[in-house]
Amino acid sequence: MCPTPKDNTGTLKAVIGVLGLSTVALLAATIALAMKEPSAAPAAPAESAVAAAPSATDFVALKETSIFLDYKDNVCAGAQLAVANKLCADLEVPTPQAGGNVTKGYVGDLDVGDLKPHTASYFQGNMCPVNVHWHLGTEHYSYGQYDENGNGPHGTAKRPEWANRDLAAAGEKVRGGFHCHHYDEEDEKFTKPYDWKYCTNMEVGETYEVHWPHSSVGDCGTVNQYQTPFYDGVFCNLSMEQFAAIAVDPQNIASNVGVHGQVFTVVNDESFFYPDMMRGMIIDKQRNMGTDIHYYTGSTTGTSRNNEMCSQYAPITWQVDRQCHMISASSFDKLCQDMLLQQVSSISASA
Ligand SMILES: *[C@@H]1O[C@H](CO)[C@@H](O)[C@H](O)[C@H]1NC(C)=O
Ligand SMILES: *[C@@H]1O[C@H](CO)[C@@H](O)[C@H](O)[C@H]1NC(C)=O
Repeated sequence: MCPTPKDNTGTLKAVIGVLGLSTVALLAATIALAMKEPSAAPAAPAESAVAAAPSATDFVALKETSIFLDYKDNVCAGAQLAVANKLCADLEVPTPQAGGNVTKGYVGDLDVGDLKPHTASYFQGNMCPVNVHWHLGTEHYSYGQYDENGNGPHGTAKRPEWANRDLAAAGEKVRGGFHCHHYDEEDEKFTKPYDWKYCTNMEVGETYEVHWPHSSVGDCGTVNQYQTPFYDGVFCNLSMEQFAAIAVDPQNIASNVGVHGQVFTVVNDESFFYPDMMRGMIIDKQRNMGTDIHYYTGSTTGTSRNNEMCSQYAPITWQVDRQCHMISASSFDKLCQDMLLQQVSSISASA
C-alpha cells in the first residue's frame, strides 16, 4: 500500500527553503540571545539597552484576565460523580499491593484471566492525558532502580511490608516511597537548592513518581482536557448509560483508561532539562527513557477493604517505566507553570 512515488522535488525544495530560512532566523535569534547574555555583553548605551531588554511575560498572570478562565465553561466539572462510586477509580497504586512491583521478571500472583493491558501507546488507543500529578518517593518498586536500597536527602523506605510481611513490626510507621540510586551527597547537583518559581514542596535530590492518567473518553483536544480531580478528566465525555454499557466487559476499561508512571530524581543541572512533561511519560531512547516498560492491569488483590465494592470494574492499564531518570528541577518547574496555565489548574504533589 505504498503510494506511488511522485515528483515532489519542487515541494521539497520549497520546504527546505522554508526550513533553511527558519534555521537562519533561529540562528539569528540564538546569536541575539547569546549577545544578550548579561555577564558577557559589554555595557550598551542607555537607549538601546531599554529597547533590547528582555521582558519575561508572566503567562500565569495573563491567564487570570482572560475569558479562558471562566469556570462555567468546564464541561467536565463533576463528571466523576456519575461513576466514582461504581468504578474503583482510585488510580493510585493500592498499598499494600503486589502489582506495585514492576521489576523485570516479576509475575503477580493474581489471576486476571484473559484481561490484557493496553500495550500500544496510549495515543494509538485514542487516549489522551487528562491529568498529571506526582508523589514523593515511589509507589511502584523496581529492584535496582527504585527500591529500599535507594537514597535521597531523607533516606528511603524500607523493604515493603507486602514483600516481607512477617518481618514488618506491627504498628510500625513506614515512611512511604522508595528512592532511586542516583543520589550522591558529594555531588552538588543533588544538593544545591533550586529557586522554585511554580512548584511547591519539592526538593533537589528527591525521587518523585509522576503519573499521567489517560482516557479515551476524556475531552481530548479541548481546553477541558486536563482536569483536577482527575476522575473528571477520565470520565468527562461519558454518560452513566455509556459507562454502564462498557463496564460490562472489564477489558473495555483496561483498553480505554491507562496511566503512565515514570520515576525521576530531581537534579539542579540544566543538562537534564526536558521542557514538556505535560504530554505523558518522557520517551528519549538516547537516555533509555520510556523504553523499558512494565505493562499490567491494575487489578486489585482484595486485601484492601476498599477494593471489594469496585473490583469488578477495576482493571485499568498501567505502563510504568522500570528505570529511574535524572531530570532538572527546571523541568518540573516548567511543568508546574504549564499546569497553572490549564483552565483547571492544580499542582498536586503528595507524599
Ligand atoms: C519484585 O520482583 C522481583 C522479580 O521477580 C523480585 O526479585 C523482588 O524480590 C520483588 N520485590 C519485592 C519487594 O517483592
Ligand atoms: C464525546 O462523545 C460524543 C458522543 O459520544 C462524540 O461524538 C464526541 O466526539 C466526543 N468528544 C470527544 C472530545 O471525545
